[in-house]
Amino acid sequence: MKEQDKELSELNENGKEIPLKQDNSEKVQDKNKFFSFSKILLFIVVGAILIFGIIYIIKIYKKMNSKIELIITENYDEMSKKAADIIADIIKKNPNAHLGLATGGTPIGLYKELINKYQNKEISFKNIKTFNLDEYCDIPIDHKQSYYTYMQNNLFSHIDIDPKNTFIPKGEGDILKNIQEYEKLLEKYKINMQLLGIGSNGHIGFNEPGTKFDMGVHQVLLTQNTIKDNARFFDDDIDQVPKKAITMGIKNIIDAECIILVANGENKADAIKSIMDGKIDINIPATALNTHKGKVYIIIDKKAACKL
Ligand code: F6R
Repeated sequence: MKEQDKELSELNENGKEIPLKQDNSEKVQDKNKFFSFSKILLFIVVGAILIFGIIYIIKIYKKMNSKIELIITENYDEMSKKAADIIADIIKKNPNAHLGLATGGTPIGLYKELINKYQNKEISFKNIKTFNLDEYCDIPIDHKQSYYTYMQNNLFSHIDIDPKNTFIPKGEGDILKNIQEYEKLLEKYKINMQLLGIGSNGHIGFNEPGTKFDMGVHQVLLTQNTIKDNARFFDDDIDQVPKKAITMGIKNIIDAECIILVANGENKADAIKSIMDGKIDINIPATALNTHKGKVYIIIDKKAACKL
């Protein structure tokens, strides 16, 4: 046996050679394997901690820099009062304000509050101009569910606003011309406060998921989700819900000096969470609010806040 082999072997009780150094080297190899495995594990853990730490810091930074003021209220009535108080303050500070208005179920309570404030002589709409977000196409302006009719019934007929100062996109006739006219109007009058509701799919106005944030006034095909949501205003019959609408684009909305979004109910909770998480995603149109340079109020009831 070579000198070298002798070093590597030893006789066992049966006189058989058992490798010595080799055995040690296997142990060393095992040890090395263990250390390199622990190194990888440590690397993964430290990496994950770092990544989550950075994400957490970015979130805190975004929250600190966010212009969004979140107001969570006990219920729908409190939400309506809070929003009406802020709008009334805007009107008091600027009696010639240009207000962007929304329709749907959510703002009805706050319009009632505004009517009360007008009746109590707290505010006047004499010199206010209003600009509605949207209108259905293919139903007459005096249809009981047109947004024109909605605005007359829920606000305009109860306050001292001059009907000449109320603007709503026209969903009938030459749509292209109507779109151009409404866009020009919005270029002429800067909106001081834009009121928004929010769809359960995150739509604002009738800007459905996938709408580019730089779009102006345009015509839209409503999604099945929105048609289903709005069937409650049309005897729960989706066939009666118009399939098209004309809407301010996200660009028009974001151009407003200040935005107030109101939402109640659990079906809005996911969309609200996406905004408050700081997302900016064209598939959730309301997340465009995170690109707004001015003040944004998000006023929601506890149910809409349940995922925050
Ligand atoms: C209405 C509008 C829509 C609604 C939204 C929520 O002018 O622009 O975006 O705000 O569909 O509707 P409601 O309040 O009925 O849940």
